[in-house]
Amino acid sequence: MSHWLIAGASRGIGLEAARQLSARGERVTASARSAAGVAALKAAAPEATTLQFDVRNEAEIEAAAAQVSDPVDALIVNAGAYGPQRQSSTDMDFEGALDLLSVNTLGPLRVVQAFLPVIKRSARPRIVMMSSILGSMSLEGTFNVAYRVSKAGLNKIAQCLAADLKSEGVIVVAMHPGWVRTDMGGADATLDVRDSVAGIIRVAESLTLADTRRYLDYRGQDIPW
Ligand SMILES: NC(=O)c1ccc[n+]([C@@H]2O[C@H](COP(=O)([O-])OP(=O)(O)OC[C@H]3O[C@@H](n4cnc5c(N)ncnc54)[C@H](OP(=O)(O)O)[C@@H]3O)[C@@H](O)[C@H]2O)c1
Repeated sequence: MSHWLIAGASRGIGLEAARQLSARGERVTASARSAAGVAALKAAAPEATTLQFDVRNEAEIEAAAAQVSDPVDALIVNAGAYGPQRQSSTDMDFEGALDLLSVNTLGPLRVVQAFLPVIKRSARPRIVMMSSILGSMSLEGTFNVAYRVSKAGLNKIAQCLAADLKSEGVIVVAMHPGWVRTDMGGADATLDVRDSVAGIIRVAESLTLADTRRYLDYRGQDIPW
């Protein structure tokens, strides 16, 4: 049994990850940012330990991290948002874009830094940063510029963390979950959330230090940075 920590698990991919891991008897600690989110989490994964923080709020994250003392084997930093309505390269909602960077880019780093002491105490520590293929610098397309930028920035953070933590045995990857039918992915998405999450868990379980600094999809296939 491993100890999994899922940040951002009130619905969608994070909630399903907490549900699947709990159902098969893994030890799960999972977070939501609101009381309603914590309630949804408790309903879906009654065995999970719950935490409450917004990934934009350093004090809340640190208070939550202080409640976790046992080693964490796998951290999935899943929380994310899609950003403002106006986010094209010719018409940007700058306040909305700044808030999105705080959620999608710096939020995951706040979480990693706060929980790093308990992650480092695992015998096989892994960190999965939930990115998106839309963060790939190689991908064509121009819709949702703020979201793309936020995930490209997250990818760079994942690369830097991977390099900085390799000597301590901590594995860090960026993950694309596929196009998934959730509130964010929408009803037209090609992938059921159960299949995406089963793949993400399989990949996370298989990671070794040789995989650190990879950008993978839920099937374990490399994505060009
Ligand atoms: N669905 C896709 O097709 C797809 C594709 C590529 C990448 N992704 C990425 O996968 C991750 C999960 O996506 P999803 O489809 O499951 O999205 P979702 O259904 O919209 O769920 C987003 C989750 O992130 C949480 N969250 C948002 N802002 C937060 C904040 N400031 N602090 C803490 N938690 C916050 C939400 O909590 P609340 O309920 O409180 O809002 C919710 O639990 C995201 O990082 C997303 O960018 C998704």
